[in-house]
Amino acid sequence: MHTSLNIVLVGFMGTGKTTIGRALADQLKRDYVDMDIELEARASKPIPRIFAEDGEPVFRRMERDLVVELSRRSNLVIAAGGGIVLNPDNIRDLSATGHVICLKATSDEIIHRVSGSNHRPLLEEGDKAGRILKLLMARQPFYDAIPAQVDTTGKTVAEVVAEVLEKIPYSIFQIPSKQENARKEK
Ligand code: S3P
Repeated sequence: MHTSLNIVLVGFMGTGKTTIGRALADQLKRDYVDMDIELEARASKPIPRIFAEDGEPVFRRMERDLVVELSRRSNLVIAAGGGIVLNPDNIRDLSATGHVICLKATSDEIIHRVSGSNHRPLLEEGDKAGRILKLLMARQPFYDAIPAQVDTTGKTVAEVVAEVLEKIPYSIFQIPSKQENARKEK
C-alpha cells in the first residue's frame, strides 16, 4: 500500500501547485510543504532577492538540498517550484518516496494567472507573456516526461483535487469493502 508516500506536485509556474497542494493536504489531513516558502524561510529573504543577490545557481542548490531532505520524509503533500524538473536527480529522488504529478494549463491560462505576480524573478525581464512562452517551450520536454499529468485549465479546485487523487495508484480514500471488513472482524 502506498498511503505513506508523499504526493508531489510539479509543473510550470501558474499551473496551480500551491492552491491544489494546500487543498489536497487539507483534504487528506497531511502536512503541506510549499518548497518556495520553505526556501524563502531558510534564506530569510524572498525568492527574487535570492536570485538577485545570490544568483540562480545558489537557488537551485538550495532547492536540490531541500529535495533530498523531503525525499527522506513521508506522508507529505509537497508543492515544488516550477524549475524542479530541470535537474533529473530531483525527479528521481522525489519519485522514490512519492507520487509525482505534473499539473499543466494552457499558455493563455498561465499568462492570465501569473500576469499580476511580481515574485517570479524568471518572468521579470521584458514582456511577461513572451518570457512565459519561451520558458514553457524550453521546459515542455521536462514536464512531459512526468507520467502522471493533470490539466487544471478551467477546472475548479475540487475537480483538480479529485483528478490528482485518481492518478494515485492506490487511492488514499479507498474505503474497505464489506468483504474486507468482514474478513478483519473474523
Ligand atoms: C521557478 C518557479 C517558482 C520559483 C522560482 C523559480 C521556476 O516557483 O521556484 O521563481 O524556475 O520555474 P512557482 O512555480 O511556484 O512559481
